[in-house]
Amino acid sequence: RRDFTIAIDGPAASGKSSTARAVAQELGFGYIDSGSIYRCATLLALRQNITDMGEGSASLADLISHAKVDIKVRPSTSHQTPSLGRLAVPEVQVLLDGEDVSREIRTPEVNRLVAKIASDSGIRQAVLHIQRKLAADAESRSTTSRSADANDMPGGVVMDGRDIGTTIFPGAELKIYLDASAMARAIRRWDEMNQMKDVTAQKPAHDPKASVAPAAVYPSVEEIARELETRDYADINRENSPLRIAPDAVVIDNTNLTFAQQVYTITDLARERM
Ligand code: C5P
Repeated sequence: RRDFTIAIDGPAASGKSSTARAVAQELGFGYIDSGSIYRCATLLALRQNITDMGEGSASLADLISHAKVDIKVRPSTSHQTPSLGRLAVPEVQVLLDGEDVSREIRTPEVNRLVAKIASDSGIRQAVLHIQRKLAADAESRSTTSRSADANDMPGGVVMDGRDIGTTIFPGAELKIYLDASAMARAIRRWDEMNQMKDVTAQKPAHDPKASVAPAAVYPSVEEIARELETRDYADINRENSPLRIAPDAVVIDNTNLTFAQQVYTITDLARERM
């Protein structure tokens, strides 16, 4: 029995994370959101006031390589919307040295800085080690948690990001490049932020110890579209591991697909190759 790796790459807000989580749950695989590791590095940079990637690069790389990043997947049994059918999207909790930073790594401040932090080769090298270690842990968990009758199925991991199929796991058994129109992506991200805004607004007080407060003003769809475009431009045009379609990737444009259609397209492809 061998391990099976699924790499899902694509531009910002193309639905990689929720798709990857549903695919992982369907196949009983582990899941790693590689963007969240870059977001943790960015949060550390904001907290330590390191925004100059010339001078600050080495100390930030050192900080992130000594930090403990954990990505915890809580299997979900509830179907969130009728369109999901029997699919479920597990929740993911991101822990940075034991602190739950799941929300704080998705603020507009982090969105604005993350591509700059991720363009630095020292940071990418530090994050690469974290990615491979988390993947090895997740893969072994997915193998040992299998029931006896699933023993002939491979254990595996789904990782999403920008360079998973090209740089991190060039030998991945299945590579997906997930894309959608710029407007579809901006609207989805706007929806997501509004849900987050509702939850944040219900919280009585912000933790005074945290240096990055949730932003009071959330951007419009047009502002989000511009932010995504700027981030994609930086991710595509950087020198180190730019966002590229791997030659052996299957390209899925999900602008006009339902969530279930795209998830089952990927799980069918995976099962064919197992
Ligand atoms: O996937 P997400 O939008 O959370 O990623 C945030 C940022 O992290 C991306 O815009 C990109 O700059 C960086 N990233 C990366 N390589 C990855 C994953 C994310 O450079 N594999």
